[in-house]
Amino acid sequence: MIRLRAEYKIKVDEPRVQTILDELRQDPMAGWFMLPETYDRAELKSIQAAAQKIQQNSEYLVCIGIGGSYLGHRAVIEALRPASSTKVLYAGNSLSPFELQKVFDELGDADFSVNVISKSGTTTEPAVAFRFFKEKLIQKYGAKAAERIYATTDENRGALHDEAVQEGYARFVVPDNIGGRYSVLSAVGLLPLAVAGVDVEALLAGAAIEYNYLNTLPLAQNSAIEYATARADLLQRDYDVEVLACFEPRLHYFAEWWKQLFGESEGKQHQGIFPASVIYTTDLHSLGQYLQDGRRNIFETVLSFDPDPETDFIIPESAQNLDGLNYLAGKKLSYLNQTAEAATISAHRAGGIPVYQLMTDKIDIRTMGALIYFFELSCAISAKLSGVNPFNQPGVEAYKNNMFHLLGKPGF
Ligand code: PA5
Repeated sequence: MIRLRAEYKIKVDEPRVQTILDELRQDPMAGWFMLPETYDRAELKSIQAAAQKIQQNSEYLVCIGIGGSYLGHRAVIEALRPASSTKVLYAGNSLSPFELQKVFDELGDADFSVNVISKSGTTTEPAVAFRFFKEKLIQKYGAKAAERIYATTDENRGALHDEAVQEGYARFVVPDNIGGRYSVLSAVGLLPLAVAGVDVEALLAGAAIEYNYLNTLPLAQNSAIEYATARADLLQRDYDVEVLACFEPRLHYFAEWWKQLFGESEGKQHQGIFPASVIYTTDLHSLGQYLQDGRRNIFETVLSFDPDPETDFIIPESAQNLDGLNYLAGKKLSYLNQTAEAATISAHRAGGIPVYQLMTDKIDIRTMGALIYFFELSCAISAKLSGVNPFNQPGVEAYKNNMFHLLGKPGF
């Protein structure tokens, strides 16, 4: 369960939030809202069966997708480092030849499968990457190439859907009522996660616990609502940059997912909080200076976890103590990390940065499920509190239209 610790009591506008929650329950794009409870168990079984097949016949699974079709599952895989005989690689999340070459170099001549993920089925970056990997699959497996392609896309339409039907690829569905950045707990995230060795049932169970917790708490004590309310209050007071801070580097991609979730959901109609992130203590030696001393338009949300006793170290005693560190001998490394966290929070507060702490248990599968649900809910409420639609992203079209025009795409 995610708990919020703030410097002051956050005053939730209960009637307004109740209206937002009622709207969300009816919203045709809020399929994620009850997903942890309503997840189609039959589909889960077929995802697990496909994952097992991929694990048996492939050393690598190349996941092709961008934005919401990729960040969520990468976030969970990087956070948990699960064990699997099949390693997940990523492609189609940029147009960089260098990055594509890196994936080809790592693949070498190993056996592999491809999971191409695109709700629209027409996004340029993954579509281009898919061409390259299809070619490689055909070179390696000939007529059997299609048996190694898993397409996660719309149930009825789109270029990828049509190709998958025509070529007989295994298909998984991005539900109509779930947008890309809210889709990690659907087939979009669950197939790559299952291949990577994540217990997807435990992930969904973690999200379901958070769903039940948040949906039974009184509104005024609901941490997701308090967090959303605090963000809206801060924006009104001209704090328009939020920095998500975490003392665990393995949450780097989780922060990337979070930035996409909030950035695409809220940044529209010339409004919204700019979502940024830092990983401490690494970034205390770079952006830490700005946070402590730069412009005061920033607030910070610190993700705090209980330490994991299984991955801890005790600082050793040194006979000579040349580095002067014997005062730390016998202490746990996690204790130093927690002390750095407490020290940073109080320094930043003293420096004029509003700091919120989101506290939870140690990082594990259930915690990741809970965090995903917590942020999806708080993001949707937060966007609605600032009067924008959390589920569209009209701004993404501008660069695409220019690029298509420059590339000479028919019709542009
Ligand atoms: O959240 C979103 O909707 C976007 O980030 C999409 O996930 C991203 O643009 C990729 O779109 P698609 O899955 O249609 O290829």
